Amino acid sequence: MSMKGNVALVTGASRGIGAAVAKALAAEGAAVAVNYFGSEAAAKAVVAEIQAAGGRALAVRADARDRAQVEAMAATVQAELGPIGILVLNAAVSFPMKGFLEYPWEAFEAKVLGEMGAAFHGCRAVVPQMLARKKGAIIAITSGLARNPGWGFSAHSAAKAALEGFVRALAFELGPMGIRVNAVAPGLTLTDATANLPEKNKQAAAEHTPLRRNGQAEDIAEAVVGVLRAGFVTGATIPVNGGGYVF
Ligand SMILES: NC(=O)c1ccc[n+]([C@@H]2O[C@H](COP(=O)([O-])OP(=O)(O)OC[C@H]3O[C@@H](n4cnc5c(N)ncnc54)[C@H](OP(=O)(O)O)[C@@H]3O)[C@@H](O)[C@H]2O)c1
Repeated sequence: MSMKGNVALVTGASRGIGAAVAKALAAEGAAVAVNYFGSEAAAKAVVAEIQAAGGRALAVRADARDRAQVEAMAATVQAELGPIGILVLNAAVSFPMKGFLEYPWEAFEAKVLGEMGAAFHGCRAVVPQMLARKKGAIIAITSGLARNPGWGFSAHSAAKAALEGFVRALAFELGPMGIRVNAVAPGLTLTDATANLPEKNKQAAAEHTPLRRNGQAEDIAEAVVGVLRAGFVTGATIPVNGGGYVF
């Protein structure tokens, strides 16, 4: 699949993995909608960097968990850049890290519903644009924690595992219509989301990783581009973790 001339919407692309994915897709020739929630200046900086390199990009604000905002965003992107052919569900739905017995149900519910709401609303808003052209590709950024547990991550693991199931269900339903749906599952990746993790934990993760380092946002972006290119891959979850399956 070629990215040249395609239009991509990346949710949560103002920082971290989403920003790296937006830049990588633009470098491949896609016009990119850079969705943000709170970080307008950072999103505009990503857009400026893409434009300075000769690409097309647009910053669009929407809470990825809010159906009306996501629908309005998809309509804006279609009007400004053209029909969306690539959707990357990346927006990080934050959550407290707590042991199960201390986990407040409200926080657990907000994480699982937020993650699934963002996926559901994103796909419902964009798939009609893909169906009209009988082609498209969706990538959900899940997590190694969907399959490999870590202390304090019960809500995150449950939410990302649900997202993986959703990916396989959509791949099955939408494949006959020319739409591929895959998941990319990062291991520990150095972004703002992991900035507060103690250095010794990061080092321990690197030591237990066959490739002996932590992931960078660009590592995940490279895998997203690879999966998009691979036109016969659908319903798959690609682990991107240097071979380390604990984080
Ligand atoms: N970092 C890791 O180790 C790791 C590992 C596995 C999976 N992941 C997954 O990778 C994805 C990106 O994580 P990251 O580490 O890059 O996080 P990050 O550096 O904290 O960035 C989070 C991004 O998500 C956006 N965002 C947050 N809430 C949003 C909302 N309601 N609507 C729209 N955008 C929203 C933020 O936008 P604003 O700043 O504009 O609000 C920001 O651009 C997440 O799905 C995360 O679960 C990360």
